[in-house]
Amino acid sequence: MNDPNSKKDKLVIAIDGPAAAGKGTLARRIAQHYGLRFLDTGALYRAVALAMLQQGLDPDDAEAAAQMARNLDITLLEDPALRELTTGEAASKVARHPSVRAALLDFQRCFAANAPTGAVLDGRDIGTVVLPEADVKLFITASAEVRARRRWLELGGEASGVPFEEVLQQVLERDARDAERSTAPMKPAADAHLLDTTELDIDAAFQAARRIIDARLNS
Ligand code: CDP
Repeated sequence: MNDPNSKKDKLVIAIDGPAAAGKGTLARRIAQHYGLRFLDTGALYRAVALAMLQQGLDPDDAEAAAQMARNLDITLLEDPALRELTTGEAASKVARHPSVRAALLDFQRCFAANAPTGAVLDGRDIGTVVLPEADVKLFITASAEVRARRRWLELGGEASGVPFEEVLQQVLERDARDAERSTAPMKPAADAHLLDTTELDIDAAFQAARRIIDARLNS
């Protein structure tokens, strides 16, 4: 957790929000601009899920998933299959197990605590559970259609062979699973700034986030 004495020298930013809201792109831009380290926490859940799928294990098996999370193979973070729809779906299933979340918690907190100038973490429960003392909390949203369209284009659009409707359906199912789970559900922290990017491109979203962060730094 943050040491209150070092808070002045460090900037910790929590970014949460639903699937494909553009958190990752925005978080990377923010990290680069303010010279902070960046952690995509969703990739950790995706890596646990991918390991389960590769070994033919059921993502609903809490015991096996927790075991996988405790011995996470970090080479999976570079695996292109990490970004596939099936991996995202399985990630939201393994993410429901409290034992999996507990196994990944320390890693996330240590990452923020050990970053020399501070860090940006993006996920679903960063502002509420992982870093409740973060200096700035952003909750990024956009309409489900816009988010599904962005994800579909990321996957290759028409050329991917994946119908847009399938991506939309998956985004909706994943949001419901993430928001309705009992442990660390996706929700904005009480002190989070909401940023709706339905009508914003990445530059406009970055400028809006920058205004919020700069206002906090100058307060
Ligand atoms: O990039 P995208 O928005 O598709 O999702 P992600 O950030 O890669 O996260 C994949 C899944 O991991 C989510 O649907 C959540 O179920 C889970 N997750 C979580 O539970 N807590 C986090 N801090 C980050 C991700």
